[in-house]
Amino acid sequence: MFGFLKSKNGAHERPVDAQGRHAVIDIRRVAKVYKMGDIEVHALRGVDVQIYEGDFISIMGPSGSGKSTLMNILGCLDQPSQGEYYLDGENVSKLSEGDLARVRNKKIGFVFQSFNLLKRTSALRQVELPLIYGGAGGRAKRAAAALESVGLGNRLDHLPSELSGGQQQRVAIARALVNEPAMILADEPTGNLDSRSGSEVMQIFQRLNREQGITVVFVTHDPWIARHTRRIIMLRDGLVIADREIAHPLVAGEAERPSEADEMETLFKETYYGGKKDEYN
Ligand SMILES: Nc1ncnc2c1ncn2[C@@H]1O[C@H](COP(=O)(O)OP(=O)(O)OP(=O)(O)O)[C@@H](O)[C@H]1O
Ligand SMILES: [Mg+2]
Repeated sequence: MFGFLKSKNGAHERPVDAQGRHAVIDIRRVAKVYKMGDIEVHALRGVDVQIYEGDFISIMGPSGSGKSTLMNILGCLDQPSQGEYYLDGENVSKLSEGDLARVRNKKIGFVFQSFNLLKRTSALRQVELPLIYGGAGGRAKRAAAALESVGLGNRLDHLPSELSGGQQQRVAIARALVNEPAMILADEPTGNLDSRSGSEVMQIFQRLNREQGITVVFVTHDPWIARHTRRIIMLRDGLVIADREIAHPLVAGEAERPSEADEMETLFKETYYGGKKDEYN
């Protein structure tokens, strides 16, 4: 439907979905090859994905299927070996390291599974860091506001070792948010958390998405977490094998978590098979 749109001056036209939303992320035939001596690992083998403003997406797939590789490319932490990446309509697939870092700092908040906080640095200071790199003013106030928005207004001076896992992840989310990015990318943000802290993190993502229209994309292995998002993209062996809307996303903190087996079954019915079980084996 979208084809490869080029306007007269050669700029890329952003695809628009049925609801009139523009693509924030538009990747075309993206491949990633890691070279290790004589051996090549084909981590992504031609991935096309469009993600629209205000979307809320989970990326799933077996270990080694290319999820982190894809997230690192989407987050401008790494570049594709082949293919194009248009971020807000700008081709970022061939930018220099420095330009890539600038795009990342301005547009993207990244959250990691292992929090990636500095050990001897207070929560407030951690959240100020992106503002320091960006040369922004009013840093302490903005950082404190970001921490308040994730429920940590009373933990500003705490070190990571003085915070629970869930709280540490919320500091990382505040750090991702403080530059007011259009998009938050998170690689297994609930992977190291118990289910209650995971649910708190989901509530924050859902609120950011609903109230501020922030586009959220994250990787998860957990079907229950995935069902809180609006769309699931499934990878296998470096390719997208399914891409489905979730008709009725769960609201974090409201529904009771069912047994894992039931959950798997529901997810597979909704997304993997999409009602046509024969498509997949
Ligand atoms: N820096 C690297 N150098 C070489 N090979 C890599 C590198 N990073 C990832 N790979 C390989 O690329 C493939 C995809 O890895 P990736 O980390 O994207 O998988 P994943 O889907 O995130 O897996 P997991 O669920 O275990 O996190 C794997 O076969 C992996 O071994
Ligand atoms: Mg990974």
